[in-house]
Amino acid sequence: MRADCNHPGAAYKKEEFFPERQAQMSEKTTHFGNREVAEDEKAGLVHGVFSSVASRYDLMNDVMSVGIHRLWKDAMMDWLAPRGGQRLLDVAGGTGDIAFRFLRRAPSASAVVLDLTEDMLAEGRKRAEAEAMSDRLDWSVGDAMALPFENASFDRYTISFGIRNVTRPEDALTEAYRVLKPGGRIMVLEFSQLPNQGLQWAYDQYSYNVIPAMGQAIAGDRDSYQYLVESIRKFPDQGRFADMIRAAGFDQVKYRNLSMGIAALHSGWKL
Ligand SMILES: C[S@@+](CC[C@H](N)C(=O)[O-])C[C@H]1O[C@@H](n2cnc3c(N)ncnc32)[C@H](O)[C@@H]1O
Repeated sequence: MRADCNHPGAAYKKEEFFPERQAQMSEKTTHFGNREVAEDEKAGLVHGVFSSVASRYDLMNDVMSVGIHRLWKDAMMDWLAPRGGQRLLDVAGGTGDIAFRFLRRAPSASAVVLDLTEDMLAEGRKRAEAEAMSDRLDWSVGDAMALPFENASFDRYTISFGIRNVTRPEDALTEAYRVLKPGGRIMVLEFSQLPNQGLQWAYDQYSYNVIPAMGQAIAGDRDSYQYLVESIRKFPDQGRFADMIRAAGFDQVKYRNLSMGIAALHSGWKL
């Protein structure tokens, strides 16, 4: 995220000096990293972050996680167990990591990747062409909270490192339930909370000190990576998030910790 005047982050700061504009904003607020922002501002800010990092997103993922995000995504596929003929919706799918894995494991399946940020999808499209997967993949620009799809139109719904960026995650879960067929399954991969304070402290030192500095060095963008780190700490822990999935209507909700809880997988069924 750059500090130029056209960036939505710059617009937010202006509100501090124009209280009358603040009064016109939506009264509901939410988190954007550690900042409190009006709900109707968050999507624009998130879009700004991911437009800014899109061209370096895959490289940064590998560097920041020392490649471990690949193992977590593979673990997601192990639990999801894709099968031929299934239709996947991968929401906040970005550059397509999850959809590619799904289609590699189930050659006769198909997938739609939906994301708020066109620049992320553009990177994904290039990869799909390179991997000769374009014929089984569709790309859609849209919001997880208002999916442009019919009721009961997908067998599987995935969202990987996406839901913590969504303004109202509970609305995204309700939409997931709506677009899944009866018998369909949701699986969420997201950063989570470590089970003990010592480990969490050590992980925080790495996250807050190393990741924004890497973002600056590799992508020339410290602020976007500062947001990513802050947004991780704001997201509900494993148990609370499982309750949110249940509240959206899903059954048999379970979770598995990855790397001791740095990330977690949540699974639920529409029965
Ligand atoms: C950290 S990236 C994850 C990309 C990919 N799923 C992965 O695991 O590598 C988060 C993605 O969520 C997208 N996103 C954020 N809010 C969204 C929303 N409300 N609806 C759809 N996509 C959203 C962003 O544009 C970004 O591409």
